[in-house]
Amino acid sequence: MNRIRLSKSSIGQEEKLAVLSVLDKEFLGMGLEVQLFEREIAKYIGIDESNVICVNTGTAALHLALAGMDISHGDEVLVPSLTYVASYQAISATGAQPVSCDVNESDCFIDLIDLEARITSKTKAIMPVHYGSNSAQIPLIYELANKYNLRVIEDAAHSFTCTRNSKKIGLEGDVICFSFDGIKNITSGEGGAIITSDSNLQQRIRDARLLGVENDSERRYNGERSWTFDVQHQGFRYHMSNIMAAIGREQLKKADNFAKRRKDIAKKYSAELSELKSITLLDLDFEEITPHIFVIKVTDDTRDELKAHLLEKGIETGIHYQPNHYLTLYKSNYSLPVTELLSKQILTLPMHFDLSDSEVSYVVDAIKDYFNKKYNF
Ligand SMILES: Cc1ncc(COP(=O)(O)O)c(C=O)c1O
Repeated sequence: MNRIRLSKSSIGQEEKLAVLSVLDKEFLGMGLEVQLFEREIAKYIGIDESNVICVNTGTAALHLALAGMDISHGDEVLVPSLTYVASYQAISATGAQPVSCDVNESDCFIDLIDLEARITSKTKAIMPVHYGSNSAQIPLIYELANKYNLRVIEDAAHSFTCTRNSKKIGLEGDVICFSFDGIKNITSGEGGAIITSDSNLQQRIRDARLLGVENDSERRYNGERSWTFDVQHQGFRYHMSNIMAAIGREQLKKADNFAKRRKDIAKKYSAELSELKSITLLDLDFEEITPHIFVIKVTDDTRDELKAHLLEKGIETGIHYQPNHYLTLYKSNYSLPVTELLSKQILTLPMHFDLSDSEVSYVVDAIKDYFNKKYNF
């Protein structure tokens, strides 16, 4: 058997032809394809097309959202330590301080009690992360945000196609940022999107993705560009290209099919692994969640040994994530006990659209085999 990949893109003839068609038109940068992708994302979620702004990465989406709120030096943003370093880099890129928070042991979502205890007069925003595509507790984040007058930037990098209370992610909330990098629930090669109904913020972000050039997006959608313009705010080179949007548009057509397969894989893993004594599963609802990653907790102190065993069997696994408050740039002078415990237990199993049932069974059997041998069952 070939090596079983932890994650990968799933690309068909449709994406290849769509890219060729953009190449044939010889208009590769930001233009009509991007506008159409934004319109189609809006339709998919059920929101106005003005609420969707596509950019070149999920990290850029987070950075633009924060910068568009004028979050900068002297400000603090609350964020779980257990996230990809992208969340942290987006905050520190504005000059603001990421303030590391602990997470729940049950689902790795930011711990609301720890979060509230870390609010200070400098706190401007909360960046909850939809860890493993889960956002069940987001309404409680908004309750806290209203109480303390804070903005919310949801790091929904994992959550495209997910629902909460049967409503698509992106339908409600302050600012929601998706990632469309190569291994996410859909991809545009690299890419991301900011979803917000705040019209002032929309305009700031739309301009800021194109170096702050005012109203350049609208011109580029029409194959034109601004030759005379004003710039009022710091901008970045963060726009999405037509090549990326062409891939994204084809992936969007497949999104529900991709989601169903990911959910089925997660349900199969859950059913097979829930009986194992040394493994605890996260408390997640795979009717609502389209899992970008499938994380288990190995509770008998043998995570690294199991990881090595699976690799020997040709199975790639991952660790999402090493805590950010351990990193030199973001080191905290306090500990986060649950995050620190979880960081030694979490292991991510293969999860992607093309993973076959027999490959899922092979992974499950390899895990069972490891524990059977270890405990001589
Ligand atoms: C939790 C989280 N936040 C942010 C990002 C950044 O997204 P991107 O890779 O598109 O910049 C990722 C993706 O890797 C992620 O997993």
